[in-house]
Formats: sequence, C-alpha cells, structure tokens
Amino acid sequence: MKAVLTGAGGQLGSELAITAPSGTELIPLTRKELDLTRREDVIKKISDISPDVVINAAAYVRVDDAEDEPDAAFQANALASFYLAHASRACGAALLHVSTDYVFDGHQNNPYTETDIPNPINVYGISKYTGELLIKSALEKCHIVRVSSLYGPKGASGKGGNFVYTILKKAREAGTPPLRVVDDIIMSPTYAPDAAVMIWKIIAGRMPYGIYHAANSGRVSWHGFAKTIVEMAGLDKEVLPVPHTEYKTKATRPLMSALESKKGTMLRPWQEGLKDFLKRI
Ligand SMILES: NC(=O)c1ccc[n+]([C@@H]2O[C@H](COP(=O)([O-])OP(=O)(O)OC[C@H]3O[C@@H](n4cnc5c(N)ncnc54)[C@H](OP(=O)(O)O)[C@@H]3O)[C@@H](O)[C@H]2O)c1
Repeated sequence: MKAVLTGAGGQLGSELAITAPSGTELIPLTRKELDLTRREDVIKKISDISPDVVINAAAYVRVDDAEDEPDAAFQANALASFYLAHASRACGAALLHVSTDYVFDGHQNNPYTETDIPNPINVYGISKYTGELLIKSALEKCHIVRVSSLYGPKGASGKGGNFVYTILKKAREAGTPPLRVVDDIIMSPTYAPDAAVMIWKIIAGRMPYGIYHAANSGRVSWHGFAKTIVEMAGLDKEVLPVPHTEYKTKATRPLMSALESKKGTMLRPWQEGLKDFLKRI
C-alpha cells in the first residue's frame, strides 16, 4: 500500500509515521514539502505520487487563536481538506482525515458517539466540521476519524506542547502555589501513539468508510487528569479544582467532549496511555 501522510511533522503525524504497518510505502509530507492551502500544489503532488490512501493529520490547532484568525483556520482545516479530497478522488485514492471532539457543543451529559449530531461552538470546531462536510461532499472513499485531547512525545507543534508537558513543568517548579485546573470540562485524554495505531487499523482492516471515534476510553475533567499526571509522575504538588468560569479563554469550549464509539474503535483506558507516555518521555 502506498500512503501519503500530511502533517507528518506534527504530534499525531509523527506517531503515524512511526507506526505504519510493514509493507507500507509511506510518503510523509510536512508543511515545508506541501502547503495544503495551495490548491494547485496539492492536486499536482497527490497526482504525481498517486497513492492508495492519503492520511491527513495536518491542521490549524490553536483553538483560541482561531477566534482571531478564522481565515487561517478555515484555509487549513476546511479548504485544504477539500483540496485533498478532490486530489484523492482524481487519482482513485481513499482519504483518512483526522477530526476532533470539538465538532460537538458539549450540551449533553454523556460522551459523544459517531451518530451524535455535531454543533460546534467555536471557530476551530466550525472549521474542522466544515472540513468534514466538504470532504464528504467530494469523496465517498473517506474515513473521518475524530480524536480528542491529544498528547504525545512530540507535543502539538501548533500549540507549542501539550497539557501533560505543561502540568509536569508547572508541578516541578519549586515554591510556586498549587495548580488550579478546570474541573467542570470533561474529555477523553488520548495518547497520540494509541490513536495512530487505530488509524492504521482502520485503513489496513479496510473498515467501511464513514465516521469513527478513536480516543482512549473513559472520561475525566482536566483537573482529574492533571491530578493523575502529578501523582503518576511522583510529584508533590497540590492541584485545586476551579470552575471554567475562573479561567477565561477566547474560545468557548464544550463542557463535555468525551468520545465513545459504536464501531469498536475506542482505545485502552486513558490511564494506561498516560502511564506509557510518562515512561516513554
Ligand atoms: N492536539 C489536540 O489536542 C487535538 C484534539 C483533537 C483533535 N486533534 C486533531 O488531531 C490532528 C493532529 O493534531 P496534532 O495535535 O498532531 O497537531 P500539530 O502537532 O499541530 O500537527 C498539525 C500539523 O499540521 C501541519 N500544518 C498546519 N497547517 C498546514 C498547512 N497549511 N499545510 C501543511 N501542513 C500544515 C503543521 O505544520 P507546522 O508545524 O509547520 O505548522 C503540523 O505539523 C488535527 O487534525 C487536529 O485537529 C488534535
């Protein structure tokens, strides 16, 4: 199988590159090699390579900045995805596109499954959901895989790290006050290497085209997650719960964005992913 991987230098993309099944001819592309917002370049590059599958792990991921830069978010998350879908269709390739839990509004009390209706509440979420819709309008052979609250060794290049690195850094600072972390936003923290393995399983297992949720199973608040990070890392730092109203951000976040799957694509419990991450770094 010949596979093109876009966003190959990112937090998830770098893990997808490492976990490609043997026998895969992988062509990893960073932004330097292909800027996905350049439509003609995208069409030409994909046509020249003529892959069996394109995996799109590239995105504009700065959720708060997107409120001020909707054009950049839409170019990378919506239009670029559309270009990739057209390019894939033109050469008969399938497309696996990575999307997000932030397509949901967070108004329900339970985790979201693939059949729940998206209703994004911030620019990033709207741009990602638009990407999903544009892809579906252009291409039948597509998997859309939604992941949630990712962390991996590389850190999100778009965010300059991830939540786990931030908590570890702050918890190690001596003489600083207790950490204050939001306890009324619930999500599924997901270890990027676990998500990468599932993405390859979906492709290699020729699972039916459509939407999949692939997150580590279980749900937790950011406060609960931070407390577990500190405890598992053996650090001595108090982590206090605070409501999200005390932590102002530009973008509104869904209060519930944990994911579940009706299609058997959930990953092992989030605590196991975190344990492996702490061992690996
Ligand atoms: N991080 C999370 O918590 C999270 C949660 C849910 C879903 N997701 C989704 O998971 C996927 C991977 O995210 P991630 O955490 O791996 O983020 P990341 O580390 O920021 O990776 C995104 C990659 O996309 C590349 N990129 C951005 N704009 C591009 C363009 N115009 N052309 C080509 N490449 C471009 C970036 O390159 P540069 O470094 O050069 O900018 C970066 O390597 C995305 O679809 C994201 O929406 C992430």
